[in-house]
Amino acid sequence: MARPPGSPDATRGAVRVAVVAAALLIGAAVHPGRAASVHPDRWPAGPRNLLIHADTERFIDSLMANMTLEDKIGQLIQADIAFVTPREAAQYRLGSVLAGGNSAPYGHLRAAPAEWLQLTNAYRRAAAGTAHPAIPPLLAIDAVHGNARVRGATIFPQNVSLGATHDPDLVRRIGRATAAEVAATGFDWTFAPTVAVARDVRWGRSYESYSEDPRLVARLAAAMVDGLQGTLGTPDFMAAGRTIATVKHFLGDGGTEEGRDQGDDRASEETLLRVHAAGYPPAIDAGVLSVMASYNSWHGIKMHANAALLTGVLKDRFGFNGLLVGDWNAQEEIPGCTKFDCPTALDAGLDMFMAPDSWRQIYRNTLAEARAGVIPAARIDDAVRRVLRVKVLARLFARGPEGPATKPPSLAVLGDPAHRALARQAVRESLVLLKNNRGVLPLDPKGRILVVGRAAIDIGQQCGGWTIDWQGDHNTNADFPGATSIFAGIRAQVEAAGGHAVYSADGRYTRKPDAAIVVFGEHPYAEFEGDRETLEYAPGNHRILEIMRRLRGAGVPIVAVFLSGRPMWVNPQLNAADAFVAAWLPGSEGGGIADLLLRGPDGKIRHDFHGRLAFSWPATVMPVRFAADGSVSGALFARGYGLEYAKPARVGRLPEARHAGADVNGPQTLFARGHVTAPWSIYLDDGLATVRMTLPDQVAPARHLSVRVDSGGAHATWTGGGWSDLRIGGRAVDLSGRADHHVALQLRFRVASPPTATVRIGPVCEAAYAAADPDGRGARCGAAHPPMLDVTHAFAAARSGSATVLTLPLRCFADAGASLVRVAAPLSIDTAGRLSVSLIDARFVRARGAQPCPPAADAPAR
Ligand code: BGC
Ligand code: BGC
Repeated sequence: MARPPGSPDATRGAVRVAVVAAALLIGAAVHPGRAASVHPDRWPAGPRNLLIHADTERFIDSLMANMTLEDKIGQLIQADIAFVTPREAAQYRLGSVLAGGNSAPYGHLRAAPAEWLQLTNAYRRAAAGTAHPAIPPLLAIDAVHGNARVRGATIFPQNVSLGATHDPDLVRRIGRATAAEVAATGFDWTFAPTVAVARDVRWGRSYESYSEDPRLVARLAAAMVDGLQGTLGTPDFMAAGRTIATVKHFLGDGGTEEGRDQGDDRASEETLLRVHAAGYPPAIDAGVLSVMASYNSWHGIKMHANAALLTGVLKDRFGFNGLLVGDWNAQEEIPGCTKFDCPTALDAGLDMFMAPDSWRQIYRNTLAEARAGVIPAARIDDAVRRVLRVKVLARLFARGPEGPATKPPSLAVLGDPAHRALARQAVRESLVLLKNNRGVLPLDPKGRILVVGRAAIDIGQQCGGWTIDWQGDHNTNADFPGATSIFAGIRAQVEAAGGHAVYSADGRYTRKPDAAIVVFGEHPYAEFEGDRETLEYAPGNHRILEIMRRLRGAGVPIVAVFLSGRPMWVNPQLNAADAFVAAWLPGSEGGGIADLLLRGPDGKIRHDFHGRLAFSWPATVMPVRFAADGSVSGALFARGYGLEYAKPARVGRLPEARHAGADVNGPQTLFARGHVTAPWSIYLDDGLATVRMTLPDQVAPARHLSVRVDSGGAHATWTGGGWSDLRIGGRAVDLSGRADHHVALQLRFRVASPPTATVRIGPVCEAAYAAADPDGRGARCGAAHPPMLDVTHAFAAARSGSATVLTLPLRCFADAGASLVRVAAPLSIDTAGRLSVSLIDARFVRARGAQPCPPAADAPAR
C-alpha cells in the first residue's frame, strides 16, 4: 500500500520484505510463491440484510454526522485495561476496551466481582462524560467457559467437553447463564465461542474447539450464539443479561500445519469452506454481532491481511454485517506493518484493531493515514458504522432505537446455584466412557474408595486455561469459592451413602480399598504454550502409571479419570485401568464426575454415560489423519464412540510401543509476545554474573547488554566492549530427539542497529544452571563453551525495522559438536560488539527439506 510521504512512521511504513540471505536459511514471513487464491463466488451466499434495520441505520447516520474524523478513528480501536485508563479511553473516544487474559482490575487477578464491576463502570462513566455525541465503549472479556476470569463465577466445561455432549440445547442454556454472569460484571462482549474445527490436536487450543467434525461445530456454534445474545428476531435478542458473542478465529485456525498455533493453514479452498468455515454461516444466521480475525495464515498470507476472505467471503458472501475485530496485536505479523501501524488490515476488512498496548500509536498513525486518504474514507465509514451498529443492537445507547438500555443482573448471579447445576449436568453429559471391563463401574458408594492423584484435589487443573488468568496455571483451590473438586464430589456422595472415601496423592493406603479412582491428566495451558510435538501423555513421567500398576497388582480395581484438553495417546494407562473415563476439562463442578461413577445410596444407577467422542482418539502418538472426504485414519476409538452402562463392551489389550524414540515433546515456543514459556526464563550473562529477568519487571542490564521486554518482544542492546549474552533457559532439557526429528530453532527479530562484531547463537549448558537441574546430571553440553554458529550475516543483512526469520536446524548445533542431551538454555545470542535487536519470538519448528547450516563460530576468549 502506498504511504504518504512524511506521514508518521513513514520510514517504518515502507513495504517490508524479509531479507533472504543465501548462506543461511532465512525464511521470509510471507511465502509469495505459494499464495493460493480465494474465489468468493464459489462460497455460499448468506442473507443480505441481517442486522440491518432502517431505524438503526438512521440513528447511526445521525451519530456519524456529528463525529469528527478523530472520533471515528477512536471507534476503530480497542485497548486493554492494563494499558489505558478510563479517562484516556474516553478522551480518545476508543470504541472498546478489553480485559486481556492477564489483565484484571487494578492488576489484581483475584479481584472480587464487585471490583470488576467497579472497573467496567469507570470506563462507562468516563465515556458518558465526553462531548457529544457520547458513545459508550464496548467492554470485552474472554468468557470462554463461563465468566471464568472472574473469581466466584460458574466455570463451565471447556468446549472440548461441550462437543462430547452433542447437545445444542444444553450449550444454548450454558450461553444464557454465561451471558448473565458476564453482564453482571458490566461487560458487554465476550470473545467466544471459538468455532475452530481442530484437525491436529497437537494444537494447544484444541480444547477451545467443539469437535473435529464441522457439522457438530456448526450446530453448537449457533446454539452458543443464541444462548449468549438471545434469539434473533425476538425481544430477547440482546435484552438485559445477554452478551455480545464473537465467533473466532476467522479463518482456518484449526487447520494449521502440525497443529501449530498461529501457524500456516495450507488446506485447499474447498477444505477451508467445507471444514474450517462451517461454524460461521450458522452463527451469522443466529445474528452473531462480532467475528474475530485469526492469527494464522492461509498459504503464507496472514488472515488479518486477507481481503478476499475477510471482505470477499465473510462480509460480502456470508452477509456478515457486524463487527470484525482483530486479535491481540495480530496486525504486527503482517509484512509492512507493525503493531503500531497497519492500514493493510483495515483495508482488508478489519473493523477494529485489538491494540492492547499499542492503541495510542495506532490511533495516531491511522488518523494520519485516514487524513491523507491512504485508507479510503468509505472504508473508515463502513468500519465505524459496523462498530456503532453493534453498539446500537446491543442496546448500549440509553436512547437508541432498540429501546432503552436495561438493567443487567446483579452480581448475585455469579456462581448461581442454577448455573452450577447446569454446569454439573454438562459435566455428566460430557464424560466419555472409553473402557469398562468386568463392569467395574459404577462403584458402590457404601464401600471403601481410594481416590488417587493430585488432580483429584486440584480445581485449577480441572478448569484448564483461560481461568482466572490466561494460562490458568497459577491457581489454587482458594481461587474457586463455591467450586467442587473431583475428590470432594466423590467424598460427599460416598459419605452420604455410608461408605469411606480416602484421598491419597501417591496411591498408598492403610486399609485395602474396594476400588481406586485414579485422577490424572494435562496441566493447564493456553494458546501456543499447549502446542505439542506428539500426543503422548506425559512422556518420560510414569509415576501415575506405576501407581496404577502397583494398585492393580494388589488386586484393587482401577478406574482412571483422565483430564485433558484433547484426546491423547494413553495406551499404557488404558491397559493399566479396568475402567477409563475421558473427563476433558470439566470446570468448577467436579461433583458431576461422582454422579456417573457411583451408584445411588439405594444401589441403583442414577445416570448413565451419554458423552460420545467429538474427536477421534489416536491409536499412536501422532494425530489421526483426515482424507479429503473427511474420513479418518489412525483412530483407536472412532468419533462417536462412547460406552454406556446399558451397552457394555470389552476393550482388549492395546499395543504400548510408542514409536517416537526420543523426547520430541515439550513446549514448542520459547518466547513470544513478551512472554517466556515455562519452564524457561530470560537471562543476561556478561561473564561475571548471570541475571535472571523477573518479568514483568521487564528491564534488566548487564555490563554490555540491556534488555527491556514488552508485548512486542525482548529489545536488546549490546553496547560493545566485551562479551555478553542473552539467553532463554533455566532447566535442562533433552533436545537430541528433536534434532533427529528435523526440528529447528526459529527466531523472528528486527534489527534496529546492525552488529559491529561477530554474533553467535547456540544452546548453552553451563554450571550456572546446575542448581536448577534437580538430578544434577551432566549440566554441560560437552564443552565449557559449546560450539555455536556464526549468524553475523543474518543480523547484518536484516533490513532495518523489518522482521527477519532465522531458521536454525538443531542438527546444525549437533554437527558443530554440541551434545544436545542436557541443554539448559536452548537459545543464547552473544556478541562482543554493538548490536540493537528486538527478538519478537523464538520457537521450535519442524524444518522442511535439507537446510544449510551457518558456519561454526570460533570460541571467543572471555
Ligand atoms: C487470543 C484470542 C483472545 C485474545 C484476547 C488472543 O491472544 O488469540 O482468542 O480473545 O487474545 O485475550
Ligand atoms: C494477554 C492475553 C493474550 C496473550 C497473548 C496475554 O498477556 O493477556 O489476552 O491472549 O497475552 O499474547
